[in-house]
Amino acid sequence: MKLFLDTANLEEVRKGVSYGIVDGVTTNPTLVQKEGSDFRSRVGELCELVKGPVSAEVISLNAEEMVAEARELAEIHEHVVVKIPMIPEGVRAVKKLSTLGIKTNVTLVFSAVQALLAAKAGATYVSPFIGRLDDISSTGMALVEEIIEVFSNYDFSTEVIVASVRHPMHVLEAAMLGADIVTLPFAVLEKLFGHPLTEKGLERFLEDWKKYQASQKH
Ligand code: G3P
Repeated sequence: MKLFLDTANLEEVRKGVSYGIVDGVTTNPTLVQKEGSDFRSRVGELCELVKGPVSAEVISLNAEEMVAEARELAEIHEHVVVKIPMIPEGVRAVKKLSTLGIKTNVTLVFSAVQALLAAKAGATYVSPFIGRLDDISSTGMALVEEIIEVFSNYDFSTEVIVASVRHPMHVLEAAMLGADIVTLPFAVLEKLFGHPLTEKGLERFLEDWKKYQASQKH
């Protein structure tokens, strides 16, 4: 399973990449707005850091304008994946972009039939938003399961990016379902490392090692 960071923050990406376990980055207008930097140059910087796909979102709402925006974004760097909203015009744009060889990530996916349409149009990735479904008393991970089943029934090559991840259990459940990718906020990535028994165990080993060293001096 690939892990992407869902952020536009350079420091977070730099740190994540230094662990050797980050395969890509996803951004969205909200995450870019938080950073307050120039959008195009930030996308370029993220692409240089991560050595993998970096999703950057269009803001147009009609297919022709989305395609024009996507062409400009794709020129920034070979790692750019163009994020397109799951609306009818978006699906039209994805179809066109797939014929142009521009990679796409269809975002704001909340049903398996939306994912099916995106895959049929040739999307490289689809992004079901799990946390936002959980927020409205729906089971986000059930959507991931449905999408994986639909895609495997028809041998689509579109990869599933589990997005809107809020906690480590989302990562575990996605991995158990065999999702291709999870994109996660940096804070969730950090939580994946920890376990109280690991910390306690390490503390004990180090204390015992000190005792051992002291015993060797006599
Ligand atoms: O990048 C898309 C998605 O991951 C956003 O997550 O937490 O705003 O629902 P969230």
